Amino acid sequence: MKGEVSLPGDKSIAHRAIILSSLAQAKTTLKNLPLNADCLSTINSFRKLGIRITLNRAACEAVVFGRGLRGLKRPKSAIYIQESGTTFRLLLGVLAGQGFKVKLCAGPSLSRRPMLRVIQPLRLMAAAINAKKIKGEEYPPVIIQGGSLTGITYKLPVASAQVKSAILLAALSAQGKTRVIEAIKTRDHTERMLKLFKADLKTQGNTITINGAQRLVSPGALYIPADISSAAFFMVAATIIPGSKIRIKNVSLNPGRSGIIRALKRMGAAIKIQRSKLKTQGNEPLGDILVESSCLRGIRVTGGEVPSLIDELPVLMVAACLAKGKSIFSGVGELRVKETDRIKSMLVNLIQMGANIRINKTGKNENIIIKGVETLYGASVSSFGDHRTAMSMIIAGLAACGKTRLDDVSCIDKSFPNFLKTLNSLI
Ligand code: S3P
Repeated sequence: MKGEVSLPGDKSIAHRAIILSSLAQAKTTLKNLPLNADCLSTINSFRKLGIRITLNRAACEAVVFGRGLRGLKRPKSAIYIQESGTTFRLLLGVLAGQGFKVKLCAGPSLSRRPMLRVIQPLRLMAAAINAKKIKGEEYPPVIIQGGSLTGITYKLPVASAQVKSAILLAALSAQGKTRVIEAIKTRDHTERMLKLFKADLKTQGNTITINGAQRLVSPGALYIPADISSAAFFMVAATIIPGSKIRIKNVSLNPGRSGIIRALKRMGAAIKIQRSKLKTQGNEPLGDILVESSCLRGIRVTGGEVPSLIDELPVLMVAACLAKGKSIFSGVGELRVKETDRIKSMLVNLIQMGANIRINKTGKNENIIIKGVETLYGASVSSFGDHRTAMSMIIAGLAACGKTRLDDVSCIDKSFPNFLKTLNSLI
């Protein structure tokens, strides 16, 4: 692989940018906005809530005409979120403080993902929420009646930025202070973006404190750096395909997201970061990532590191399969409740290609253990309907001996076609 690429904007940052711009009083221009199905789902949800959002697809730009924290309108019908977990959970936080009732529906995969983690703290803040209940868990569709909320102090039982963000968004319109305490720090895009919009928020150690009854002030315009989760596939590919040298431009380098860079470096990857001319954008650090191929060694990733590379674990598993020695990924249970059960999808696929990989479970703690092999062999593998599994298996297929066939790709929208185009431009 040779050359340089610019990737679409960061999905996590983009969701927050659309949400806070809608809740601010003035208009905000969002640049390098990724126009994948998930971000379009957030845009369409806010349009249904009465926010005017204009899109210039060719320029990857949107203008959001915010109406203030109390400016959302009751939608005429249920909001269909499709498969975007971040949209669903963060929107619940926003709607908890609105004075109307809304039904949120989801596509088949998201309808099987747990929502109680968000619903529970929002109920403690006094939101009235009904969802589909199965064996002590709650799932979409969810009906939420927002109202006057009260600030809470809440210790997150799962390391989830989506849950933390939903609480912080609800806290904006609550009475009094809200405190969120994290056992393990997760990505802090919401906190950074709230500060950019002049919210009264403080982070001290693992505790975030935010005052209620706030007014958000638009920064006017906001450039979204490239998505490090997309960059991860190219970083691993260039590392494991001999003779490669690539540059990925203007990538988000938020420490809560860049665990993949730290992990690959520990494995011996030749990765360099160059600060880009753009410097920090919207409180988010960014830079160019330069990658050259190199021989990798096994790695131990602890549970504490997992949130900083949770979405990159599938492709990191591919790298571990081709590293020298043993790799252990600890505390990876959250991978079971992503778009698909990513432990299962990656295990089934990689074993098909000749990988030496197993799962070890101690109590609630799940570990993935991989012994590196000399070669992976082309095989028939499946996306399991999940874009990150699909992209990881394409990288495994590129590095493998022989032809790999990837099935079940028709249901993948997200950033898949763009990803293939960019990958082909480097080969
Ligand atoms: C996200 C947080 C992570 C991540 C997801 C996006 C976010 O989920 O897996 O793709 O934007 O906050 P959890 O918060 O459930 O870990």
